[in-house]
Amino acid sequence: MNTEIKQSPSNGSMSELAIDARSVVKAFGVGDARTVALKGASFSARQGELHLVVGPSGCGKTTLLSVVAGTLDWDEGKVEVFGTGLDGMRRSAITDFRRRNVGFIFQQFNLIPTLNLIENISVPLLLNGAGRRISEEKAAELLKRVGLAGKETKRPTQLSGGQQQRVAIARALVHEPRLVICDEPTSALDSETGHQIMDLLTTAARAPGRCVVIVTHDPRVYGYADRITQMEDGRVKAVLDGEPLQRFVQSTH
Ligand SMILES: Nc1ncnc2c1ncn2[C@@H]1O[C@H](COP(=O)(O)OP(=O)(O)O)[C@@H](O)[C@H]1O
Ligand SMILES: [Mg+2]
Repeated sequence: MNTEIKQSPSNGSMSELAIDARSVVKAFGVGDARTVALKGASFSARQGELHLVVGPSGCGKTTLLSVVAGTLDWDEGKVEVFGTGLDGMRRSAITDFRRRNVGFIFQQFNLIPTLNLIENISVPLLLNGAGRRISEEKAAELLKRVGLAGKETKRPTQLSGGQQQRVAIARALVHEPRLVICDEPTSALDSETGHQIMDLLTTAARAPGRCVVIVTHDPRVYGYADRITQMEDGRVKAVLDGEPLQRFVQSTH
């Protein structure tokens, strides 16, 4: 289902990158209300990796990932996802690319209140042209995997915050997108459910040609990271792996 992307033919190491964003600038508003959310942020994530993005509130994490996910236009810089340049692509082409290749778990869940849980989780499959029956079967399987079997016909408003978040995660994974982006996925989850969800996301990250990027403030999640990008004031401050990553994880426990 997700074979539409061609590997970058030019360069072996480039095709290993799931995300390659260079010097991205993004401003909101005009005049006195103008905020520069990204001030030349360069960010990359590799295929097969679970990559965390951390940094203080307001430093541009959500903005950066919205650009990478193809949900937000940016002002300057280059953005490549699995070797496909999003700059210069028409908005409709970016939307199509996103539907096929990206699962996004929003901070505010963005579930559709008038649809039941199975219908909510089915949406990405239906948008990609899958039939209703197969979509609902897959949705039921995902609902089970996030620990909510038995709640198929409930509506989002009948669930707790943590349960809604799990539905949002199921919806982001159901079409097996190559790139899964999560904005604070475990913040509303209790400890046991949080680890269950992290196991699901780790499995998704490790599958060949895939990648999971997670924005989080939750130190419980840090131990799952292959690499961590630290942001500060609209820029990337550091990328941690190996020894520095271990030290960072230990210092937060
Ligand atoms: N839609 C928007 N309109 C105006 N300002 C925004 C908008 N989205 C984000 N910002 C501003 O951009 C900066 C970065 O925001 P954001 O990316 O949400 O940070 P983070 O996710 O790290 O908390 C903040 O100063 C925020 O107020
Ligand atoms: Mg945010």
